[in-house]
Amino acid sequence: MDLKELAAAEAVKYVEDGMVVGLGSGSTASIAIRLIGDKVKGEGLEILGVPTSTASDLLGRAVGIKVVDLDDHPTVDLTIDGADEVDPKLNLIKGLGGALVREKIVAAASSVVIIVADDSKLVDYLGQKAPLPVEVVRFSHKTTTRRLSALGCRPVLRMVDNAPFTTDNGNYILDCRFARIDGPAAMESTINNIPGVVDNGLFVGRANKAMIASKNGVRIME
Ligand code: A5P
Repeated sequence: MDLKELAAAEAVKYVEDGMVVGLGSGSTASIAIRLIGDKVKGEGLEILGVPTSTASDLLGRAVGIKVVDLDDHPTVDLTIDGADEVDPKLNLIKGLGGALVREKIVAAASSVVIIVADDSKLVDYLGQKAPLPVEVVRFSHKTTTRRLSALGCRPVLRMVDNAPFTTDNGNYILDCRFARIDGPAAMESTINNIPGVVDNGLFVGRANKAMIASKNGVRIME
């Protein structure tokens, strides 16, 4: 079993009959969605899935999960999602897959959030390996970029095939390289106070557990 699958399999053990489950985004969360689909088919579980992206919506339906709207099911029992960085306090950087806005909305509605990742995502401090993704509206995004630079980072407009990457919400992503992010809670709100910013990939105090897979097995961080 590869590491992502190990982590996902450990998290899916927490999925129980009758739950509303948040379906995360990214490659590790996608493995979890497939495993939830196996549980639905194999054990006949009644699960409602709340997607965090168009991709997880499509995958959830494809594997036989009944996909529903968060607005119709505003309390999510458990969300299983990936991360780009996990610090020792379980604070996260998310959004390299571009789904951070919906991921944060679903995480905020969830009683329990379990992160699934391999040990390459562990860091001593946020910003150690990954840039911080910030979703911004297209209007005057260069002005928003300048305001973000003033916080001491280097923002780069995310591109795909020579065009700006567009999120499921129709916005752009600025990947902001910080030397390190100390005080992620304050930084999360400072960034979100900049006009034009929709949200950023700092997830502070939102994860309850992380299933971190390494060649030695799965370590559960809480
Ligand atoms: C999606 O927007 C991200 O927050 C993902 O959760 C993150 O990029 C992890 O993806 P992988 O599991 O593919 O590394």
